[in-house]
Amino acid sequence: MTTRYKVLITGGDGQLSADLAQVFNNSDTVVLNREALDISRAREVQTALLHYKPDVVINTAALTDVDGCQHNVEEARSVNSHGPQNLVEAAELVGSRVVQISTDYVFDGTLDRPYIESDQTNPQSIYGQTKLDGERAMRDEDLIVRTSWLCGIHGSNILKTIIHLAQTDTPMTFVNDQIGHPSFTNDVANTIQQLVELQAHGIFHVTNQGAVSWHEFAWTILNLMGHSPSQLSAITTEQLDPPRAAPRPANSVLNNEALRKAGLPSPPDFRDTLPKLLEVLCE
Ligand SMILES: NC(=O)c1ccc[n+]([C@@H]2O[C@H](COP(=O)([O-])OP(=O)(O)OC[C@H]3O[C@@H](n4cnc5c(N)ncnc54)[C@H](OP(=O)(O)O)[C@@H]3O)[C@@H](O)[C@H]2O)c1
Repeated sequence: MTTRYKVLITGGDGQLSADLAQVFNNSDTVVLNREALDISRAREVQTALLHYKPDVVINTAALTDVDGCQHNVEEARSVNSHGPQNLVEAAELVGSRVVQISTDYVFDGTLDRPYIESDQTNPQSIYGQTKLDGERAMRDEDLIVRTSWLCGIHGSNILKTIIHLAQTDTPMTFVNDQIGHPSFTNDVANTIQQLVELQAHGIFHVTNQGAVSWHEFAWTILNLMGHSPSQLSAITTEQLDPPRAAPRPANSVLNNEALRKAGLPSPPDFRDTLPKLLEVLCE
């Protein structure tokens, strides 16, 4: 039996929040987009939490344009670092727990094995650094969920971009020297719900399984769509022209060790979920 929690979800127009809203679908759940609650404004955050008095606040709100953050440092800090701090301070007033969604980009990607939760962080980008500062704002009782390469049915994401390029026969190029776990918002949202039910706290890596490069990910999508991979080519990060503003970790693979220790299953291999998503997205 699931316990009924009053959950407040921030960043309500985002792709993960849309699936979280479905997973926590009951009349007590409150979903607030940026217009309804700007997490960078401390007073606004306090007013919202005092009004709704949620048991759990799930913070999906973030400035997620990784390259944009390199040029927009103040806003990145204000949303990704001060936003979580504002939520924790307000949560303290009403006794809420906070679930902070974080990222593989807190690591530098140089390790020769998948990253476990306790591995040394060393972000290489403004996005990664500001998200790490957001993690550091959490209290012992709060939950940090690091995920990677998110895509789903809602919002914009790389999966939808690849589908569009495939359907329009547009040539595409992806790097083959950055590897990670593609993760689907519905699978991640379901695991977050299980963690909330368990009243878990601390850091958890929550990703789908099956490590691939971006090139292999695109190849798998094209293959499942029945498209020839001839429209797809592989390059290295160094060959990107122009280079991306923000460095990405070469190894982004997150080991879901804490989930296993908590007795919870990891989200499935991404190849198991992908066909179902393609069925919906390619309709
Ligand atoms: N996308 C990925 O590949 C990825 C990977 C690892 C971790 N994550 C983390 O996972 C979480 C969810 O990601 P996502 O892909 O669902 O993000 P998303 O689709 O970009 O959604 C983020 C939402 O946050 C909102 N937002 C921005 N600034 C805000 C503010 N000051 N106050 C309130 N809302 C604000 C945005 O609003 P607007 O629509 O108005 O801009 C957007 O709707 C984020 O914390 C992200 O850092 C994402």
